[in-house]
Amino acid sequence: MFAGVEGWSVGDRVLYHGDMLRPHGGLAEFAIHRASTLIAHPPVAGILAAATPCAGWTAWRALHDNLRLGREHSFFVAGGSGGVGSFAIQIASGLGLRQIIATCSAKNHAYVRSLGATSAIDCRSGDVAARVREVTHGEKARSALAQQFL
Ligand SMILES: NC(=O)c1ccc[n+]([C@@H]2O[C@H](COP(=O)([O-])OP(=O)(O)OC[C@H]3O[C@@H](n4cnc5c(N)ncnc54)[C@H](OP(=O)(O)O)[C@@H]3O)[C@@H](O)[C@H]2O)c1
Repeated sequence: MFAGVEGWSVGDRVLYHGDMLRPHGGLAEFAIHRASTLIAHPPVAGILAAATPCAGWTAWRALHDNLRLGREHSFFVAGGSGGVGSFAIQIASGLGLRQIIATCSAKNHAYVRSLGATSAIDCRSGDVAARVREVTHGEKARSALAQQFL
């Protein structure tokens, strides 16, 4: 542990995403990594945690670390049928959010609903923002990937 590192203690179990632009590989007993990009190892088996990068962590960071969503929030995810989006829906569902609104192709609506989306909007037709406002009855929905409010 280097001086100046905050929020972590020696012995913490962590997950990290290797920087593909740096020469050091990940298949090693020790690795040096920027503390600010570490993620606490969730309370699941290591083999399960290892299956989540990098789409799962991207979604987790957006929902848990940045948006700090509560059950009362409506949540909008663009590209809900994709790698990051499908994790985002499942995390939002696990958090018990009131409304989970996802965009994707019409052919994937059943899929995003099966993951926990409460509404599916066709991203290729119509006014998506207007449809979201319709679903939320004009309330703002928090957005994971754009990091802004619709
Ligand atoms: N995957 C990762 O590990 C990762 C990590 C960090 C950041 N990112 C970034 O996160 C974003 C999504 O990545 P991903 O891996 O989740 O992608 P992906 O699996 O290819 O999913 C793309 C999503 O976007 C939708 N989509 C495709 N064309 C669209 C269009 N013209 N208009 C609106 N929606 C459209 C797709 O919907 P349909 O398939 O239903 O049409 C699908 O839901 C990218 O910007 C990527 O660079 C990804």
